[in-house]
Amino acid sequence: MTVHIGAEPGDIAETVLLPGDPYRARWAAQTFLDAPRLVNEVRGMLAYTGTWKGNPVTIHGTGMGMPSLSIYVNELIRDYGAKTLIRIGSCGGMQDSVKVRDIVIAMTASTLSTPSRGIFRELNFAPCADWTLLRAAARAAEASGVATHVGGIYSSDVFYDERPDLTEQMTRHGILGVEMEAAELYTLAARHNRRALAILTVSDHLLSGEALPSEDRERSFGEMVRIALEAAF
Ligand code: ADE
Repeated sequence: MTVHIGAEPGDIAETVLLPGDPYRARWAAQTFLDAPRLVNEVRGMLAYTGTWKGNPVTIHGTGMGMPSLSIYVNELIRDYGAKTLIRIGSCGGMQDSVKVRDIVIAMTASTLSTPSRGIFRELNFAPCADWTLLRAAARAAEASGVATHVGGIYSSDVFYDERPDLTEQMTRHGILGVEMEAAELYTLAARHNRRALAILTVSDHLLSGEALPSEDRERSFGEMVRIALEAAF
């Protein structure tokens, strides 16, 4: 057990899917895994471990934002030996070509700050995805027929952004979407020599103002879980 995870040693699989929402962790485990069992519920941050096609998988909520994700991912890596970590979440679209319901696979995650920022000082570290996972996810997404975009995203510290100029610059520089967790996940994976990827459904759009209704979110989320599982094994 760690400060924030109540699982016993051996309860966490080497492959961990990371939705922000703990209820999504439960839904994904009950929908996709065989014999899912609850392995963490400290602070309501649900985690389930089961198998997919015979492969052990844990699905663990992270909460929203990089400080929250950082706590869980640090403990999953350092105390439970997680080796492959795939964020499954949502993002706001930032290009006209990226539509609501599309999937974005994050090759890089630009950010103003992460909990790791302090160790880089003046260096602009470039958090990036694991290439083998990125390639596998892109292939799985293509085979599934869902419109998919692979490229850079922006990990923000705020949902209600008071810097429209920054959004404009991100869009101008080809960033596909904004979310709030991937840059810290990629940075931690780099630090600990683990594999990480973020796969995101576009739930809203910063340019068009469109937003997905909740039933559609579930369908898109399911497609993303399948792609993540296929990429992992
Ligand atoms: N996650 C989903 N949509 C988002 C947005 N518009 N901003 C930040 N994170 C998001």
